[in-house]
Amino acid sequence: MRKILVIHGPNLNMLGKRETDIYGTAGLDQINADLEKQAESLNVELDIFQSNHEGEIVEKIQAATRECAAVIINPAAFTHTSVAIRDALLLLEVPIIEIHLSNIYKREPFRHKSLVTDVATGQICGLGAHGYSLALAAAAKLIEK
Ligand code: DQA
Repeated sequence: MRKILVIHGPNLNMLGKRETDIYGTAGLDQINADLEKQAESLNVELDIFQSNHEGEIVEKIQAATRECAAVIINPAAFTHTSVAIRDALLLLEVPIIEIHLSNIYKREPFRHKSLVTDVATGQICGLGAHGYSLALAAAAKLIEK
């Protein structure tokens, strides 16, 4: 099974229009298209999902317990608040990469705490959209046989 689930949390559908000084000018469609291209060359399949709703993200993670070999997740604002997403991630027995475009540790104190980092395999943050490419390369490596 070489399917990797990519989850984008709330407001990431607004990338390219949203606080571009922090998040950059690439839109989510561009990021996803770049990931699909990279996935092809890595010979992995992607399931890309964006939601602004916590419960929908929880349900997607629950479904991934049966379907996916790894998960890449930018929980966005839910990073700092969602015990429910953290608990859902704990159901997984596959590698989890947490990703943030911005360096959350250089920002407001409320962003310094992630409820996901200690349940993730690893975290990438502060490298902008390029971080997604690094996350996919890492996930593909982790599921290599
Ligand atoms: C973010 C950082 C979060 O603090 C913020 O709420 C986001 C995006 C990032 O990718 O840098 O929405 O996850």
